[in-house]
Amino acid sequence: MNKVLLLGSTGLLGSAIKQVFLPSDFELLVPDRSELELRSFHQVADYIEDHMPDVIINCAGYNLVDQCEVEEYEQVLAEELNVDLVMQLAKLSKKINAYFITFGSDYVFDGKKGQAYIESDVPNPINYYGQTKLRAEIQALQNNDKALIIRTSWLFGPHKNNFVSSIYKKLESDNPVAVVTDQTGCPTYTLDIANYLLNTVLEEKPSGVMHLCNDNPVNWHQFALAIEELAATGKMIEAISSKDLKRLATRPECSILSSERIKPMRNFKLALQEYITQYL
Ligand SMILES: NC(=O)c1ccc[n+]([C@@H]2O[C@H](COP(=O)([O-])OP(=O)(O)OC[C@H]3O[C@@H](n4cnc5c(N)ncnc54)[C@H](OP(=O)(O)O)[C@@H]3O)[C@@H](O)[C@H]2O)c1
Repeated sequence: MNKVLLLGSTGLLGSAIKQVFLPSDFELLVPDRSELELRSFHQVADYIEDHMPDVIINCAGYNLVDQCEVEEYEQVLAEELNVDLVMQLAKLSKKINAYFITFGSDYVFDGKKGQAYIESDVPNPINYYGQTKLRAEIQALQNNDKALIIRTSWLFGPHKNNFVSSIYKKLESDNPVAVVTDQTGCPTYTLDIANYLLNTVLEEKPSGVMHLCNDNPVNWHQFALAIEELAATGKMIEAISSKDLKRLATRPECSILSSERIKPMRNFKLALQEYITQYL
């Protein structure tokens, strides 16, 4: 039986992968932060060399896009988790001959292409978070030419707060709901990624960069309208601009990911319906 080490299993994506992999034939190792501090170089090395997994899936990371744009302490954390850890995992997985998968982001692109990005497009991040994600990709591939970087975007799924659960709660409350129209991307269901990993990626073991998202790109306002349609509250969702939010980090205007390597996963609206029916 193959041994899979899943890092970040308490997060949005990691928890979905854990849910899908637990009943599979893989032996799954899911150390949480109390068992394995991922900022500790020695703990990570010892854990991996003690357990000798066949596959390492890294869902851990620093994702506070606005905080790390300006605060030095947060930038150090982002660098440690998004870049240094990925570099270390790439080296260790190569050393023990384990297949290494880590996750990248649509925020490696500047959003100025005006249409969907494919894997061979040249990244040009416009915020600090995106820069760390790009540095991670470079480190992963430089240190392990069999590593796989899965770029994905706009995740929603069970077990953790996310855009869908938060809009859903707001729709049920008396508070007004306002969402931006000037950022377009691909909402993606964490359980769809998890199933793709289990059924396809671990069978075929591709390497390099791969874009993996649900189909049917929308802007955030359209995404919120799709949630409202299913929640059927009849509540209005105000359309606003990113400038109204005064966020610290700039986001790409259009960071749609499509793939020159694989077919897109199903329309996000089908996944959204499943998620809302089963989990909200
Ligand atoms: N969310 C999105 O929309 C999105 C979009 C594009 C790409 N991605 C990428 O997808 C991956 C997963 O994202 P996510 O949204 O699932 O992340 P998340 O929910 O923020 O989860 C991060 C995970 O990392 C763990 N972690 C953080 N610091 C740690 C430390 N020092 N020691 C041990 N564990 C630590 C967290 O543990 P605790 O629970 O203990 O904090 C958690 O399990 C990331 O690479 C992210 O860049 C996400």
